[in-house]
Amino acid sequence: MQEQSLALFAEAGIVVEEAELASRKLLVQTADQRYSFVFVKPSDVPTYVEYGVADVGICGRDVLLEARADVHQPLDLGLGRCRIAVAGRREVVGEDYNLLATVRVATKYPRIATDYFHEKGVPIEVIPLSGSVELAPLLGLSDRIVDLVETGRTLRENGLEVIDVITESTAQLIVNRASFQLNRERIGQLIEALRAVLVQEQKSEERKEA
Ligand code: PRP
Repeated sequence: MQEQSLALFAEAGIVVEEAELASRKLLVQTADQRYSFVFVKPSDVPTYVEYGVADVGICGRDVLLEARADVHQPLDLGLGRCRIAVAGRREVVGEDYNLLATVRVATKYPRIATDYFHEKGVPIEVIPLSGSVELAPLLGLSDRIVDLVETGRTLRENGLEVIDVITESTAQLIVNRASFQLNRERIGQLIEALRAVLVQEQKSEERKEA
């Protein structure tokens, strides 16, 4: 979502120079020096914002749910729309959870998976992985996975099917709670500038469709 997010900021007049983006620098300034951008792994974004090292961050709702970070969430950017779903091989689709002693679920989202199955009253054994989760049912590591599904292609090409959609995920703008209070005006302006771009984009989409 980095490219799309930077394009959104650029539309709002917050521009990082191409040369900076092409570099390996992880901390860069905007052309007008008004903002600093830090580039971190998606799962680390809530940490930087919760600790106030960054006032504002962008990350997927999936990451936020998993991190359970205590941050303000003022704006859904609508980027990177996907589903967080339970999936498995065709044989397990439709299987009655009540007939199973436990479900083995491979995932990058142990908390989301655990909450989902606990809510259903189903005992779960989580197998934490950090990527290529779709391999787990193929190799017998787990019966099911909880993972992101965007186009569904990775599932299809690995012989898996969606069993249930847990929730949707899109990119969220998140703000450190203290920063939001202390820099209300400046952060408020930033949020409004981004919101205005999103509204414009929505309008031009609607015009195209009409
Ligand atoms: C994500 C996700 C799925 C895939 C879904 O993986 O974990 O594997 O994208 O996309 P699709 O429905 O369009 O096929 P990512 O590319 O982030 O790599 P990872 O497996 O290393 O996490």
